[in-house]
Amino acid sequence: MEGARPVRAPRGTTLTARSWQTEAPLRMLQNNLDPQVAERPDDLVVYGGTGRAARSWAAFDAMVRTLTTLKDDETMLVQSGKPVGVMRTHEWAPRVLIANSNLVGDWATWPEFRRLEQLGLTMYGQMTAGSWIYIGTQGILQGTYETFAAVAAKRATAAGQDGGGTLAGTLTVTGGCGGMGGAQPLAVTLNGGVCLIIDVDAARLRRRVEHRYLDELADDLDDAIARCERAKAARRGVSVGLVGNCATVLPELLRRGVAVDIVTDQTSAHDPLSYLPEGVDVADWHAYAAARPAEFTDRARASMAKHVEAMVGFLDNGAEVFDYGNSIRDEARLGGFARAFEFPGFVPAYIRPLFCEGKGPFRWAALSGDRNDIRVTDEAILDLFPDNDHLHRWIRAAQDKVAYQGLPARICWLGQGEREKAGARFNDLVASGQISAPVVIGRDHLDCGSVASPYRETEAMADGSDAIADWPLLNALVNTASGASWVSIHHGGGVGMGRSIHAGQVTVADGTDLARQKIERVLTNDPGMGVIRHVDAGYDLATKVAKDRGLRIPMAEQERPATSLVALTEREGPSASLAALTEPEGHPASLLALTGQKRPASSLAARPIPRGSRASFTSLWAALEPIGRHPGTGGYRRFAWTAQDAQLRDWFAAEARARDLDLTTDRAGNQWAWWGDPDAALAAGQPGVVTGSHLDSVPDGGAFDGPLGVVSAFAALDALRERGFEPSRPIGVVNFGDEEGARFGVACAGSRILTGALAPDRARGLTDADGVTMADAMARAGHDAGLLGRDAETLRRVGAFVELHVEQGRGLADLDRPVAIGSSIWPHGRWRLDLAGEANHAGTTRLADRHDPMLTLAEVILAARREAGRHGCVATVGKVRVLPNGVNAIPSGVSAWLDARGSREAAVREVAAAVAAVGGGAIAEESFTGDTAFDAELVKRLAALLDDAPVLATGAGHDAGILAGAGIPTAMLFVRNPTGVSHSPAEHAEADDCLAGVDALTSVLADLAR
Ligand SMILES: NC(=O)c1ccc[n+]([C@@H]2O[C@H](COP(=O)([O-])OP(=O)(O)OC[C@H]3O[C@@H](n4cnc5c(N)ncnc54)[C@H](O)[C@@H]3O)[C@@H](O)[C@H]2O)c1
Repeated sequence: MEGARPVRAPRGTTLTARSWQTEAPLRMLQNNLDPQVAERPDDLVVYGGTGRAARSWAAFDAMVRTLTTLKDDETMLVQSGKPVGVMRTHEWAPRVLIANSNLVGDWATWPEFRRLEQLGLTMYGQMTAGSWIYIGTQGILQGTYETFAAVAAKRATAAGQDGGGTLAGTLTVTGGCGGMGGAQPLAVTLNGGVCLIIDVDAARLRRRVEHRYLDELADDLDDAIARCERAKAARRGVSVGLVGNCATVLPELLRRGVAVDIVTDQTSAHDPLSYLPEGVDVADWHAYAAARPAEFTDRARASMAKHVEAMVGFLDNGAEVFDYGNSIRDEARLGGFARAFEFPGFVPAYIRPLFCEGKGPFRWAALSGDRNDIRVTDEAILDLFPDNDHLHRWIRAAQDKVAYQGLPARICWLGQGEREKAGARFNDLVASGQISAPVVIGRDHLDCGSVASPYRETEAMADGSDAIADWPLLNALVNTASGASWVSIHHGGGVGMGRSIHAGQVTVADGTDLARQKIERVLTNDPGMGVIRHVDAGYDLATKVAKDRGLRIPMAEQERPATSLVALTEREGPSASLAALTEPEGHPASLLALTGQKRPASSLAARPIPRGSRASFTSLWAALEPIGRHPGTGGYRRFAWTAQDAQLRDWFAAEARARDLDLTTDRAGNQWAWWGDPDAALAAGQPGVVTGSHLDSVPDGGAFDGPLGVVSAFAALDALRERGFEPSRPIGVVNFGDEEGARFGVACAGSRILTGALAPDRARGLTDADGVTMADAMARAGHDAGLLGRDAETLRRVGAFVELHVEQGRGLADLDRPVAIGSSIWPHGRWRLDLAGEANHAGTTRLADRHDPMLTLAEVILAARREAGRHGCVATVGKVRVLPNGVNAIPSGVSAWLDARGSREAAVREVAAAVAAVGGGAIAEESFTGDTAFDAELVKRLAALLDDAPVLATGAGHDAGILAGAGIPTAMLFVRNPTGVSHSPAEHAEADDCLAGVDALTSVLADLAR
């Protein structure tokens, strides 16, 4: 047979293959391509953009042929949708082993994948398309139902209501009504809410109406809004479909001020060629994407940036917004929208606790094609779990609302300990003839222990193991070893190339004893992987579940009295590094896992302070570590007055509260935590001693720059208290806001506003890349920007300030010393150059006719390097903004930022002037700080106290420099940075050096406050 044709799995009890163990994969492969099931069966595409069941029709025919004759001690090997071999194995082995779409790391990109696909070497298997257990839109309906139920529960909790909650009286706006996304309208209405779903393709919407997943189609936007608002007011669960492009419709809904409560999206954003850009007709879509993929990708990403910008707009207006697993945030980021990651993915937001219990999408299909078989299994499930109301509600709703596609099937979420019970019961029902033919039991790859996907299932894991892909591989291996009927390992499902690795299994309940044994093992071990994966990541709930179910965790079985770092110090000796501390006994885990402080950043409840500097330091670090860490880069994105900044402030407040310190926020928004009453002490002529630093970061910054100073400050305070030290002056810990200036462009904004070095009006008017002013950002974060200005009252309380900071350079590494005293900060400045040009076509404008500011910029950058060298300075052009920023457009303008520093102010200014001359003369000074020598007396006192600590100058700016400039006696301590790398995820400090820093700071505070 050749080419596309309608495919339908055989029904009934007559075997086409040699046994049910091979008949099952055969029917499920065919079922995946049934026109009732697959989105584009002629192209072998089942769902999820281009998720295929077979690589080609020839490969499909070969698989059907092979399965028809395969014996029960043979295994067919499938490489990306093509059968490549049959091996002699044994009857416990899977009948089919599948590896789809896998690429070696550096090659794991869409362009490379497509190149290889065009050569006929691979295919995209999505999750259940290439592993033959797709059951139509119902498959995702249960997960979507669970997710929207969790949203309802969250809203109910926020409103102070007990238990459950529904979506009655709410409007959800979403996009993408395809194979998976089509579940959204029904999931929302099952939860009682109103859903507006937008899709560019009218046929997709009509198909969902036919399948009873969508209630109505609107004529146009006005009609859609009217229908939704009517239903919302009447608290009726209704879903409305609208033909349109999300990149156009969402900004328009936002502009019109439509009251939207929940926003998400399930367009096929994971693959830019499957997301239709604005201005492209549905009819031209696939031909255009195939002919000019790079251009199409750019346009799709630009549209996704607009789309996500509107989602963030709804978030800013107070809506519940989440990424529903299609990677749209990262695509929008690539499209140039900087705030794309401001809303969370749905797994960390709602699903992770279920994963800790080994709960996930358990599904089964009746190979007979007989609906009654599913009815019997439904009743079995209700009978097995009589107390699970949620499950009962779902099964009843599914029976009422779900239209089967292809072979009748059912899905529900069951946990570890539940799945094998259900599987064994199904097998018994087959054996007794109550079900007319065998049933296959499988699942989505989106499960608790079968996937590594840092933008989705494993986003923001407590121990940072988001991208560790050993887990899905182990999952596939254990299912193979346990007796699954077919097992698959895929790459790129759900979120696209380079972003996920995942595994699947399907096991056949054919009523035999052998099948029962296999089912019991597979359905125990498969979800068991989810539990142990979350135990390993440090989730307490998973640990409890593992204990209750008797799951063996070898690392917990060892005699290991040492659970704190104090004990660890004794064992490991003085050379333990921070990395080593995170990897006890060669076992990768983060500080979180080690300290037993395995709490997400959101649950910053008061708790006892561990004893010993090492333990207190580690516990502080553990709670701070996950906040603002980007799952993809591992770098930190902690920008002023964002949601991450609020979490950092919560952390600071919680640590202050845990220590009974008095917490204040000054007019500039900096946080202060006081041990002792600074005002009473001031009246007695004893102003306080302050230490601390900042918690914000540069884009994709390291963990230490700033946070090391704040964590060390609390740890030093703990050490003093543990020693019984009674300060005669109050000791303060400070968290300066916006030190890096990453969002609004002015470094040390918090300390500059505090000291009056940055005028309040100028500060309020500073804008971020999205045009949001600092005043607006502060207002959204709950800080009154009207208060900004020099805060004399706060400044008076500070008698001395000592800031501890990781060294940003290799001075200490070269000297082989752990801690240094800072003597001064080089003069440094930031300037902006605006270079004007004339926009024109990149292809048609003659070189001689161009006014291209990018060329001037190139000269400016080279001049910065040259002049810095000539004047003994350093200079950097690290940020540029290009208009219109198109690949095929000559820029109309370029703005570039120059950062220059050196030991002499005159030299730094000469560099800036020379660079300005190259750029045409105009240069705007955004900030300049002159040479800042720290207080000579204080530096001397520290040097005497810290014996042989070297004294160093630095080229990096710090809040300490601003306070010194305001006349406050100030000094700094630096902690060794072995590589010298900073402002990068690679920034590092060894644990022993950090603790040496805490010790030095403890001595300094004891001396100054005695
Ligand atoms: N959260 C999860 O559990 C989960 C599970 C599976 C798949 N997914 C992801 O969800 C996404 C959707 O999957 P699917 O199977 O429904 O894909 P699909 O390709 O079948 O459907 C996508 C739909 O989006 C529409 N669309 C594309 N661009 C649009 C635009 N600009 N505006 C409006 N509509 C547009 C298409 O017309 C299509 O109907 C994929 O990225 C997939 O990887 C998530």
